[in-house]
Amino acid sequence: MPRQRRTINGRPVVITGAASGIGRGLAQRLSRSGSPVAIADIDQNGLKETARSLPGPALTRVLDVADPGDVLRFAAEVREWLTAPLAAVFNNAGVAVTSSVLGADPNDDEWLRRINFGGVVNGTRAFLPILTEQDEGVIVNTSSVFGLLGMPYQSAYCASKFAVRGFTEALRQELRGTGVSAVTVHPGGIRTNIARNARIRSDPAGRGRSHDQMAAEFEAITMTSPEKAAEIICRGVERGKARILVGPDAYAFDALARLAPVHYFDIIAQAEKRLRSRQAGAPQERARQAAAPDAAVQR
Ligand SMILES: NC(=O)c1ccc[n+]([C@@H]2O[C@H](COP(=O)([O-])OP(=O)(O)OC[C@H]3O[C@@H](n4cnc5c(N)ncnc54)[C@H](O)[C@@H]3O)[C@@H](O)[C@H]2O)c1
Repeated sequence: MPRQRRTINGRPVVITGAASGIGRGLAQRLSRSGSPVAIADIDQNGLKETARSLPGPALTRVLDVADPGDVLRFAAEVREWLTAPLAAVFNNAGVAVTSSVLGADPNDDEWLRRINFGGVVNGTRAFLPILTEQDEGVIVNTSSVFGLLGMPYQSAYCASKFAVRGFTEALRQELRGTGVSAVTVHPGGIRTNIARNARIRSDPAGRGRSHDQMAAEFEAITMTSPEKAAEIICRGVERGKARILVGPDAYAFDALARLAPVHYFDIIAQAEKRLRSRQAGAPQERARQAAAPDAAVQR
């Protein structure tokens, strides 16, 4: 079936998780294109900062995406605020937990599940009635490359992102033949606050790294800025894509999932080993490791 182009630039949009990272990037990118943006986040200060950075009109709401009532109230407010059809809803808010399955704190896993999966379900259910009444618009749900492959110490995160993918793909089929569509976004590593804000009780690899060290390692291997990610996502939505891969690493993960559906981690582990030995060979890296021997990249 040919792709149906969509127009979101200049038209009203909703974005959750807009106080930071990809959500802030989307708000800035779309506001610059002339879109009125309804932005929400649990972080009041970050959200204010995003709002201050926008060149155009914004509706801001502090809320918890895990709370269905909060999200429904926001949808009612957006309905009043709209002066043109709602073009897109970006269910983007998300958090991370790093832990082994054995060492997992059930409260952390539940916290993540309620935000990463519950938040997407709540946002979809709250805003879908507006889009179906208009018979146009797009629901854009953020999964991850960890919604394509399972990774060690990311069981709760992977489970939530596989769930977002399954939920959104099922919705996409339900919406066939209507003017409304559903899109899944699979970012690779994006330089945001996700690792700094993650819940990490201890180093699951048993190497005694601090939370800061693990966050720094994550940031060192990210390939894409949040601004670039926002550009790729907006372009993908406008081109009518059903599934948007963000960053070169996302394309590599996607290929691995198809070519080595069982043995993909053997290949990832090999690539990491090569990357680490190359980094260990670089003079700057040798100096860094001498200062902090635990900070070598290991994921
Ligand atoms: N950064 C990456 O490498 C990466 C990769 C794949 C997928 N993602 C996904 O992209 C999305 C955006 O993450 P990011 O990387 O920009 O991280 P980020 O931490 O910079 O931004 C996430 C935002 O979500 C907000 N948030 C968290 N819990 C919330 C709640 N209960 N209610 C409302 N808002 C809440 C945070 O306050 C924050 O502003 C997430 O769904 C994340 O899982 C990120």
